[in-house]
Amino acid sequence: TYVIAQPCVDVKDKACVDECPVDCIYEGKRMLYIHPDECVDCGACEPVCPPEAIFYEDDTPEEWKEYYDANVKFFDDLGSPGGAARMGEIDKDHPIIAALPPQNQ
Ligand code: F3S
Ligand code: F3S
Repeated sequence: TYVIAQPCVDVKDKACVDECPVDCIYEGKRMLYIHPDECVDCGACEPVCPPEAIFYEDDTPEEWKEYYDANVKFFDDLGSPGGAARMGEIDKDHPIIAALPPQNQ
């Protein structure tokens, strides 16, 4: 799967959403999250993110390794919705993101 990391927090450019062929990039309150089972690893989202927040899981920089878990665990209570568009903004973030001070301002 691909992973969205810290540079997305409080930015939410959403260029990635338009590129994803399976609509598996879901919006939280402060960042977006890639569904690990719905992502087909096409890689289309990665080059279009202006702050370069998106990485293939094995290429996530060391300082942002915990974002793999953050993306996965975001969906613990959501299951596999099968499409982000109809969900709109989901009213939560993973706890490590929710705890961050304002970012990337
Ligand atoms: Fe975030 Fe980049 Fe997408 S800032 S919303 S991961 S285009
Ligand atoms: Fe979509 Fe990016 Fe995966 S475009 S299928 S989230 S690699």
